[in-house]
Amino acid sequence: MNDFTPKKIDYKQYVVDSQLRYFKPHATKIEKSFAEEISYSLIQKSKFINPKFFYDKKGSDLFESICLLPEYYPTRTEISILKKLKHDLLPYLDENIHLVELGSGASVKTRLILDIFTKLQPKTEYFPIDISEILTESSEQLLKDYDTLHITGIIDTYQGALEFLKSYDDKKNLILFLGSSFGNFTPDDGKLFLEKIFSTMKSGDLFLIGLDLVKDKNILESAYDDSKGITAKFNLNVLSRINDELDADFNIDNFSHYSIYNEHDQRIEMNLKSLVSQSVIIGKSNLSLNLEKDELIHTEYSHKYNVSQIKKILNDVGFEIKNIWLDDKKYFSLTLLTKN
Ligand code: AVI
Repeated sequence: MNDFTPKKIDYKQYVVDSQLRYFKPHATKIEKSFAEEISYSLIQKSKFINPKFFYDKKGSDLFESICLLPEYYPTRTEISILKKLKHDLLPYLDENIHLVELGSGASVKTRLILDIFTKLQPKTEYFPIDISEILTESSEQLLKDYDTLHITGIIDTYQGALEFLKSYDDKKNLILFLGSSFGNFTPDDGKLFLEKIFSTMKSGDLFLIGLDLVKDKNILESAYDDSKGITAKFNLNVLSRINDELDADFNIDNFSHYSIYNEHDQRIEMNLKSLVSQSVIIGKSNLSLNLEKDELIHTEYSHKYNVSQIKKILNDVGFEIKNIWLDDKKYFSLTLLTKN
C-alpha cells in the first residue's frame, strides 16, 4: 500500500494491518449533514427523505436480505451476467489496474470480478467505497479468501470518495457501479454524478455500470413490495434511524410502505404513507412536523431503462461504450465504458 494521506479533505485513517485500512471523514461532518438534510427535506410541501439515508447498519443488512428475495430479480440477474462476462473483460485488464467499487455493500458481486483480477495480478488493490460501515465487515471477509488482496476502504459519499481517489495515484482504475444504484438518482442528479465520475477518470480508465431494464409492471411492483415485507421494513427503518440519531419521535406503526411503478417516468416510486394525522418532533433539527392522514413522504426512485436510453445517457456525458451485456430475459444490463 502506498503511504498516501489525503490533504484537502479531513479524513481519519484506520490501519487494521498491512493489507487493510480505511479512510473516513470526521464523524461530526457526517452527523451534521444528516440533520441538516433531513430538516430541509421534511419541511418541503412535498416531503422526502434522500434514499442514501437508508443505509445505516440495520438498513444495509435489510438491503442484503432484499437481494436474496425471490421477487427481487436484479441481484441474481446481474450475477448471472457477471459470470458470463469474465472472458470479455480480460482483454481490458492488466497487472496494475486497481479495482474501485462504488456502493460496495457486502461485496458479494465483487468476488466474481476479484476472481479475474487475482488470477491475473500478483497483488490486487481494491478500493471499496460505501457510506455504511458494512464495508469493514465485508473487507475482512474478502481478505480471508484472497491472500494477495490489499484493501483501502473509503467510508464516505461517492462524491467525496471520488475526489479522494483522484489524488491517490496515476494507475488505471476499473470503477464498478453495480446493482442499478444509478437508478436511485433523479435524472438531474444522475447526470451530475456521471459527469463527476467522468471528470475523475483518467484517460484509459474503465467504468462498469449495472442498470435495470424496463419490464412488466407486475414483476417490478412485486420486486419492490415483497410478500415477506422485507422491503417495507427497509423503507420504515429510515424513520427508526432518524429517531435514534436525530432524537425524533416517529411512531413507526403510524406509517406504511407504499410503492408503485410510474410507467410514464419509468420508475418505481417508494414512499412512506402517514396512516393518521400526526405530529412528530425531530429534536436535533429543532423541528416539529405535522403530517396529514395519507400524506406521503417520498423515499426513493428506482428508474428503469431501455438500451437506447442507456446509450444516450452515457454518450451524452462523453463516455465511449465498449460493450453492453444483457441476460437472456433482457431484465438487466451491464455496460463497459471508457474515457479516451
Ligand atoms: C440500491 N438500489 C439499487 C435498490 C433498488 O432496487 O433501487 C434499492 C432498493 N429499494 C428497494 N428495494 C431495493
